[in-house]
This record gives sequence, structure tokens and C-alpha cells, in this order.
Amino acid sequence: MTGPILGIETTCDETSAAVLDERGTILSLVIHSQDVHRIYGGVVPELAARDHLRRIEPVVAAALSEAGVERRDLRAIAAAAAPGLIGALLVGVTWSRAAAFALDVPWVPVHHMEGHLFGPALEDPAAVPPFVGLLVSGGHTMLLWVPEWGRYHLLGQTRDDAAGEAFDKVGKLLGLPYPGGPAIEAAARDGDPTRYAFPRPMMGRRAGAAAPGAFDFSFSGLKTAVAQTVAPLAEAGAVEEERPHLAASFQAAVLDVLAGRTVAAVEEVGCDRVLVGGGVSANRALQARIRGEIGPGGRLFTGSPRVSLDNGAMIARAAQFRLEAGDSGGLHDVAARAPLPGMLPWKPEMRDSSLGSAPGSEAQPSIN
Ligand code: KG4
Ligand code: ZN
Repeated sequence: MTGPILGIETTCDETSAAVLDERGTILSLVIHSQDVHRIYGGVVPELAARDHLRRIEPVVAAALSEAGVERRDLRAIAAAAAPGLIGALLVGVTWSRAAAFALDVPWVPVHHMEGHLFGPALEDPAAVPPFVGLLVSGGHTMLLWVPEWGRYHLLGQTRDDAAGEAFDKVGKLLGLPYPGGPAIEAAARDGDPTRYAFPRPMMGRRAGAAAPGAFDFSFSGLKTAVAQTVAPLAEAGAVEEERPHLAASFQAAVLDVLAGRTVAAVEEVGCDRVLVGGGVSANRALQARIRGEIGPGGRLFTGSPRVSLDNGAMIARAAQFRLEAGDSGGLHDVAARAPLPGMLPWKPEMRDSSLGSAPGSEAQPSIN
């Protein structure tokens, strides 16, 4: 069965809908970023749910009309079903299930983080496995070995705050608007990244899967260190003056950790194709840093902000994979937390058997 797919994203504070054709090309992508949360400095779940309800119909209508696609031509309707804010998820899931029922087409639930893995592929057909995947969003930080779509070996994840969450919390400490990530990146451009020596949490640990938790992340200590530095500056009325340096020094610490762990994963797995997905992957300094670390022989796949930040196109693209694989990934209901479908452990002895066994991928991993 062929035809365009409609993808809907309502996990947090973006109401988004996109239509993809059967080759995975974006025919339309509409994103409404909620600004009702701005004055609160963070997302208010009930306001998010209510705004999704107000926006979902016009956002979907705009996506269909921009794509020149009629509802009756749709092959399937997909929605992010987990993880996310329950009230927000319920709007997208209930709306899309009802629409799929009315149109008598399949409804495809998608794991939001699997969607982020498919983001770069929307713009670059080479952004396919095998790759080392770094997923960095407001709620998650994960390092994965992805030999093929649907097989996600977990190397490490955050033990406390996510990378994006650290950006958002530090942004608040520095008096920057929500979300903190883009504001910190902009402020850091005029700052000296060596002015403040913030900690690089867990960087001292030995890399290599033999050491338990060797690829894990932790960002809450870094956030606390920034808070302790900011407190006396605030008392002295010096935060504004120091803001670029604080932002640059914080960002340098996060980048050291993310790039350091990613390069350790590349060495562990033996594949220097790297994909970075999720909202934080929009950070140009992070992209440049990882590109520099993996060297000219490696490949870095990232998308432009519209496919890296929350969007309906990545949901439709992951749904296309799930439909073609005939495997829903075990998702059927909304969930605030849910494991990535196809999540597997990583063991060093997998190194050789995993490499080169990536059906559907023409790219050959380089083995160092
Ligand atoms: O993936 P995403 O749009 O939503 C979630 O799934 O959470 O990611 C949002 C996160 C926020 O924490 C935001 O501050 C961060 O991505 N972010 C950035 C940048 N743009 C967005 N972090 C660092 N630098 C950026 N340029
Ligand atoms: Zn996201």
C-alpha cells in the first residue's frame, strides 16, 4: 500500500504536523511553537495540553493543504505516543487515532526518540545506519550503537538531567529566556570559555564497555557548579557583565563531555559514522566540535533545526519504517516514559559481528 503519511507531534510544547511522500520526502512541515510558557520560564503541562487542543486541527489542515494532499489520500496517520507530557501526548494520540479510524487507515504510534534518530535522514539520504547515535534533547541524553534501523544498542545515558535540561536550567540561572539552549549558544559567542573552570562530570572515568556506566552522562553537578558561581556574582550585580563568559564556560564543559563520550563510543564500536539528533543537536558549536573530533575520515550526520527540534516529519519518517517493518515497536498507548523500541544492551564482543551486518545500508563502516 502506498501513499503519503501524516505525522503528528505533541509530546511537549510544539504542535507539529507533516506530510511525507512514499520515498520519505517532506511534502509539508508545519510547526507551532507554543509561547504560552514563556513567562513561566518552563513548560506548564496543562497549558501545553490545552494549546495542543486549540492548534492541532489548524496545524494539520495547513500541513495537508501545503502538501496538496487530501485526507482520503493518506496511507497512514502517525503520532508520537511516548515519552512526553501525558496531557500533551493524549491530544495528538486521541486526535490521530480518531482521524485514522474515520479514514480507515492504519494508526502508527511512534517513540519520540526514535523519531529524533530519523530526523537527519529527512534531509540527507546517507544519514542511515550503521552509526553511533547521540540523542540530546530536553528530556533525554543517550549514546547508541545503531547497526540497522530498529536495533538500538544502548552504550550510555544520563543518570540525572538531560543535556537540554542542563542548558534550560543554566539559561534560567543566567537570566536568559526559555528555552536556554539557543540563548546560551548565542551568549557564548562573545564569551571566554576558559574564564570559569566548570566540572566535566564523569569524564575522568575509564571509557570502554568493560567499565560499567563508562558511557553514562551526568549534568546535575555541572548545573550546581554554575549556580554556586552565579550566586556571589548576582549579589555583586555582575551577572550581566559575566553572562557571555559563564555561558561560554558552561557550554565548553557540556561539549567536552558530549564530544568526549561520542569519540569514546566511536572507538569502542569501531564505526566513525556519527549521527547527532534531538534539540541540542541544533547547537553549531557541538556540531563543529564532534566533526573536529571524528576527523576527516569520519562522517557526521545532523539535520537543520526544523528536523532536529521537535517536528512531525521525524514522526512520519519513523512511522514509515515501522509500517514497512510490520512492527509497531510495542507501543500502543501514551506513556510519560517508555524504553526505545528495539533497545538492546551493548557488549564489547558484539563489535565484530555487529559491524558490516546492516541490511538496507550501502555504507560500509570503517573499522579502526
Ligand atoms: O528535542 P527537543 O526539541 O525537545 C525535546 O524532546 O525535549 O529539544 C529541546 C531542547 C531544549 O532543552 C533546548 O534548550 C535545546 O533542545 N536546544 C539547544 C539548542 N536549541 C535547542 N541546546 C543547545 N543549543 C541549541 N542551539
Ligand atoms: Zn524531542
